[in-house]
Amino acid sequence: MSTQSRLFIHEVAPRDGFQIEPVFVPTDDKVALINALSRTGLAKIEVTSFTSPKAIPALADAAEVMARIDRVEGVEYAALVPNLKGCERALAARVDEINLVMSASETHNRANLRMSPQASLAQFAQVAALARGQAKVNASLSTAFGCPFEGEVPETRIFELVDAMAAMGIDRVTLCDTTGMAQPLQAARLCEAVQHRWPQIAFTAHFHNTRGMGLANALAAWQVGIVRFDASLGGLGGCPFAPGASGNVCTEDLVHMFQAMGLDTGVDLETLVAQARRLPALVDHAVPGQVLRAGPSSRRHPPPQIEPDGAQVRLAGPALDPACQARSTP
Ligand code: COA
Ligand code: ZN
Repeated sequence: MSTQSRLFIHEVAPRDGFQIEPVFVPTDDKVALINALSRTGLAKIEVTSFTSPKAIPALADAAEVMARIDRVEGVEYAALVPNLKGCERALAARVDEINLVMSASETHNRANLRMSPQASLAQFAQVAALARGQAKVNASLSTAFGCPFEGEVPETRIFELVDAMAAMGIDRVTLCDTTGMAQPLQAARLCEAVQHRWPQIAFTAHFHNTRGMGLANALAAWQVGIVRFDASLGGLGGCPFAPGASGNVCTEDLVHMFQAMGLDTGVDLETLVAQARRLPALVDHAVPGQVLRAGPSSRRHPPPQIEPDGAQVRLAGPALDPACQARSTP
């Protein structure tokens, strides 16, 4: 059981969230959201990705967003990078961290990045060398807990890839459950094993809630010592090149859970939730976050007025989504 009570929350909605949205969130809105998120106590914000604008048109404004956001002290500003060209663009934009991405499974790597994992690794080595002294480098390993094309990804495959990354001097690695295939016992096992093998690497867990297991997996990862978590405001997110992909574990739900457990996330939940409320207008649909609708568990409602005839009163709660309004219970 973990004894770590200080957690570091990485917000990925501006990248993992917006990349899959069919609407283009205007640059001004992205900048305003990121600036507000910068003041909530998040440790890191993944601002955008320097990918091909043909592959990810939603983030075609990456350089402009990076140039215009405030750089708040204590917050790291990261960008996802798929190749050497992306690294050059990200360095020109003065990112604090380059978040390199490749998949543990061959089929997803080819679908997502149009190259073999071996070719991705070769680019990682070039990027690690190029970025040295200019930006931190994190390696995100997609499909680490399962691949929507290939199914199970053996742990030995993860070990092999982390080993190669460690040999390049990469000391930050994120294990990504790209399409929510992980279950908690597996999440705990893999997270424990990699931390044991590479104590010099700072590992982050990146879970998607595709099958409702996101928070359970995050809890399991924390119990074996993981203290860094990627999460997406409102529960947005998903890889456009993975069938059935859907949202990340929701940031405000994750922060709420850890705070309810008495842990220090560094994040001001109320301010975070206020930002999550802006999302439906930006992406043009409701978002799956739960705390956004129900409020925190510390919330107290006024007791119901009993009708003179003694009839039970149905309570229309102030939930945002009418489908989730609070109801009086028997
Ligand atoms: N940024 C901007 N443009 C890029 C680029 C980058 N990082 N990498 C390549 N390009 C451009 C090339 O300059 C070329 O442009 P042109 O057609 O005007 O000459 C074009 O994209 C094709 O280049 P190529 O090297 O053949 O790339 P590709 O078509 O095989 O695509 C990737 C490879 C990695 C660039 C593309 O698959 C990609 O961006 N994927 C992003 C995946 C992603 O973000 N998924 C979600 C997150 S996990
Ligand atoms: Zn993701």
